[in-house]
Amino acid sequence: MDFVTRSLAWLLPMHEYKNIVYPYFITRENLEAMPNFQMRDDDIVIASYPKTGTNWVLEIITKILQAAGKSEATSEERAFAKLEFHHPELPQTTHLMLEDSPSPRVILTHLCPDLAPPGIANPEGNVKVIVVMRNPKDAAVSNYHFGLNIMRNYFYFGHILAYFLTWDRFCNVFLSGEAVFGNFYNHVLSWWQKRHDPHFLFLKYEDMQKNLTDAVKTVAEFLEMDLDDATVKHIAKDCTFHNMKKVFENSDFKHRTFMARKGMVGDWTNYFSPEQSQAFDAMYREKLEGTGLEFEFE
Ligand code: A3P
Repeated sequence: MDFVTRSLAWLLPMHEYKNIVYPYFITRENLEAMPNFQMRDDDIVIASYPKTGTNWVLEIITKILQAAGKSEATSEERAFAKLEFHHPELPQTTHLMLEDSPSPRVILTHLCPDLAPPGIANPEGNVKVIVVMRNPKDAAVSNYHFGLNIMRNYFYFGHILAYFLTWDRFCNVFLSGEAVFGNFYNHVLSWWQKRHDPHFLFLKYEDMQKNLTDAVKTVAEFLEMDLDDATVKHIAKDCTFHNMKKVFENSDFKHRTFMARKGMVGDWTNYFSPEQSQAFDAMYREKLEGTGLEFEFE
């Protein structure tokens, strides 16, 4: 890290837990409570690295549950079910709120399996876990913009700090694994180990972009919800970027209003220098070769 980045990191209210950096609204207390969080048999979990399509999948699941008559809860109501958060816009810490939430719960987490509740890492019964993944270059660009928004909206002197958080600085931090929620590859690979467990479904952002109707159908089948083709198509239409942007922008929560930015595959080409792209490619090969996990970048 260069001197300015180090100073920035020092000025921001972040902390480290088990060698991973978290923002202040993911408290140590919350992280320590994770091993005792009790799952319910009909819980649905979305596990993801930040900015890889979590809210998109949440919208799809919400619409599927509504169409199947299982729940009337809206994605706005479910959006803050991020297990490890104590969100500044909410009075209570999320895992305590979830204890009192009606079933079926949709639980979101950005944690790796070893820090997540045991009932998510090694689910039993009918618990279903959907792991969402996205190519690391677009994930990095999306995290960069989200970080700027968080700084500007929630931190004292955030606009000034954001001025110093250039893309080049963030790119280095992301590559070195010092970004919030840690190293991208360690994260995705830790979940990828679960790929043979029938409790898990893996979705990639790029595949969802290619064929959203197929993705909705896959999720509905995984959740054992019997929906006809017309309903599946209808849900896919509701979940296009254009439609979801409107949902996000009309939210009462500031945090949610900047959830939709560009919603595309390949925006990284507008940010990465050839050297940065090569550094990413080298790490991509080093970490993913032989794992069977790969991503599309365009
Ligand atoms: P960009 O910043 O690249 O636009 P998360 O929900 O995990 O925070 O991920 C946010 C990313 O998903 C943002 O990416 C956002 O625009 C994108 N996204 C949200 N809804 C989407 C949709 N319906 N279609 C495509 N991308 C979507």
